[in-house]
Amino acid sequence: MAIKVLFVCLGNICRSPTAEGVFRNLVATAHMEDQIIIDSAGTGDWHIGKTPDVRTVAAAKLRGYDLTALRARQVAPKDFEEFDYVLAMDEANLHDLRAIAPQNHSAHLSLFLDFATQASHREVPDPYYGGEAGFTKVLDLIEDAAAGLLKHIQSHC
Ligand code: 4NP
Repeated sequence: MAIKVLFVCLGNICRSPTAEGVFRNLVATAHMEDQIIIDSAGTGDWHIGKTPDVRTVAAAKLRGYDLTALRARQVAPKDFEEFDYVLAMDEANLHDLRAIAPQNHSAHLSLFLDFATQASHREVPDPYYGGEAGFTKVLDLIEDAAAGLLKHIQSHC
């Protein structure tokens, strides 16, 4: 059975699509596309159906990630039945996820950066209202945690 991973942020147009794209690349490089299913979603509903933010797409492209096929959707309680890992970008996302999670769900729900190899940050900071550097920082943090997550999954399956 494939392991299913869902990345969650607020809008699903900056951080979680970046995590989806970075992790997809890593999983493809490891030839594990059939074993690990990846998606992303937002706790909010403002951007449903939209492509990722142009600044997110541009920053990701500079590192070789193509996010243009992704479309935003809102996270739902049934995601906790579908996914094995539900990974929040920040504490607010985690709080909102706990509020909608069905009782007795068996998904692993935590901060994504719990899988980081460097302990510099607990959260992926929201880059939406900041400058270009924020989008680069998002990529740095996500690339590190994505590598840690893949190692974790490989050692548990
Ligand atoms: P994300 O960033 O949660 O990383 O997708 C944001 C996107 C949109 C908004 C806030 C954060 N917004 O307020 O519309």
